[in-house]
Amino acid sequence: MPADDKMRVKLCNILKFLLLFKSKGLLHLPLYFLLKESVLSGSTQLLDIFDHYDLTILSSSSNLVHLERLFDVLHEHAISIARLHLDVLYSDENLLASHQISNKMTFNKSGRSAAAEIMEGSNQKKFAQDQKEDTRGLIYGEIEFESFQKILDIALTGLQGKHGKFTDLGSGTGKACLWAAITTPFSRVFGIEVIEGLHNRARDLLGAFNSLNPSIALGGSSSNNTKCKLEFVQGSFLADIHDWSDSDLAFANSTCFPAELMMKLSVKSQLMKPGARFITFTVSLDSPYWRLIYKERMTMSWGMATVFIHERLSAEEVRNRMTQAADGDGGSPGKEDDGIWVLDTD
Ligand SMILES: C[S@@+](CC[C@H](N)C(=O)[O-])C[C@H]1O[C@@H](n2cnc3c(N)ncnc32)[C@H](O)[C@@H]1O
Repeated sequence: MPADDKMRVKLCNILKFLLLFKSKGLLHLPLYFLLKESVLSGSTQLLDIFDHYDLTILSSSSNLVHLERLFDVLHEHAISIARLHLDVLYSDENLLASHQISNKMTFNKSGRSAAAEIMEGSNQKKFAQDQKEDTRGLIYGEIEFESFQKILDIALTGLQGKHGKFTDLGSGTGKACLWAAITTPFSRVFGIEVIEGLHNRARDLLGAFNSLNPSIALGGSSSNNTKCKLEFVQGSFLADIHDWSDSDLAFANSTCFPAELMMKLSVKSQLMKPGARFITFTVSLDSPYWRLIYKERMTMSWGMATVFIHERLSAEEVRNRMTQAADGDGGSPGKEDDGIWVLDTD
């Protein structure tokens, strides 16, 4: 067979396998499109990967072990492509600019909270009242893709197909939301950010991502290719108008959240559904409605932080907890360690 024809057959086979993994629901749409584009753009990396597999054996028998191995390698490759796409947008310069926006809100020369001064005159008055004594919660920091990918993998394990909505509470410039929209099966991704400058930047970066990647454009109606509806709103996650109680997975990069904000967030989180999950950094939720299921120290853009993954208890479990607490026997996730997978904690 001429070399060109051989190559055409090989490319068709690769596309066939990508389609197979997509149709089995293993490879969700954005990753499928990223891999497909990589093949069609003539990248040799996927060809190299497939060179290690005998496609006739894979397709003619139910060679599950080999198929699983191939899928793992393809998935890892898709994640690395996703990372390249987002690294272009979430550069060191972007992080610096985000810090500058956030610093303007956090400190001023008189030492009085600039955030409070700005917010008092705006429609964010309620938030200013909530946080004017302490604006540490507005201090900026971002997830690292590598550790966040690992955290999402763990949080999604056992979520049993509940991939409706992911919410980032304090979404900054949208790094965690874009990552979740591309690399996880959630059909809706929602980011709530109180600082207008950061929120505007998130929308600009989403626009830039969509222009650079029209085939996996995010944020539109669910009829587009990716089937992921990504939405950023500006305001406080404590405000009732921004409802995130229907989230299957919520995330708060809470390292700098002051105790009072964390306490209010813990109370609000109780509206989430049984079985839902919640990721926090540095401090766990303080509520009897949640069980801590995972805890690990990980690297973030600002250094090490302890990651907490919680699971919302059923009504009956909450009742039992309350009864135990009334009997003086614990009651919040930090106080109970059963069933936690603890890795390398302080
Ligand atoms: C550490 S940054 C995290 C950014 C992004 N989630 C990430 O991990 O890459 C925390 C963000 O929470 C925002 N924030 C703090 N309190 C908030 C509130 N009550 N409502 C909405 N956003 C809030 C801050 O302005 C800041 O942008």
